[in-house]
Amino acid sequence: MSLVQQRTSCRAYEPKPLPREYLELMLEAARLAPSACNKQPWRFAVVEDEAMRMRLVDEAFLAGIPMKWAINAGAIIALGMEKSAITHKIAPKISGVDYPLLDLGIAGEHLVLQAEELGLGTCWIGWIKPKKVRAIVDWPKGIEPVGLITVGWPITEKRKTRPRLPAEEIIKWL
Ligand SMILES: Cc1cc2nc3c(=O)[nH]c(=O)nc-3n(C[C@H](O)[C@H](O)[C@H](O)COP(=O)(O)O)c2cc1C
Repeated sequence: MSLVQQRTSCRAYEPKPLPREYLELMLEAARLAPSACNKQPWRFAVVEDEAMRMRLVDEAFLAGIPMKWAINAGAIIALGMEKSAITHKIAPKISGVDYPLLDLGIAGEHLVLQAEELGLGTCWIGWIKPKKVRAIVDWPKGIEPVGLITVGWPITEKRKTRPRLPAEEIIKWL
């Protein structure tokens, strides 16, 4: 099975730390991602410290979705967007496309697939309070948190596969 077929969001982790070199490989995979005009607007804050992970889960998650499982992830990685490049201001005004956000998505998924290859589980967390995330990871105002990715040792028997729309519904061949 390929990595993309194998990957599912992981919401159950063994509460064990992660090897630093695994995290470095994941961040390197993200660093190599493509980006519009090669502007690389991504910034990452890797939260390994247990007290800070707890703060993220307790203070920076929005209410309504139960996500306490995230506490057992060995690391929570914050994805931040740095949009100061002049192209980031002009290009979206012309095309209407939010390139930095697109770039962050690509980089995040590079990171996720590298984690999968290493036998780790991940879950994107978009249901966040960006300002709280910024305060906890101590980013300056110019970096806008857009999401978190939990990474940890997966409890694989709790993995679930979610359905996808059929190809005919999402693809148009011309
Ligand atoms: C941008 C983004 C934000 C997400 N936010 C959350 C979240 O806040 N909480 C959560 O439990 N899952 C979150 N997910 C995971 C999705 O629910 C999941 O990817 C989707 O249901 C498909 O399931 P799968 O990843 O297992 O294939 C997010 C995924 C993405 C890509």
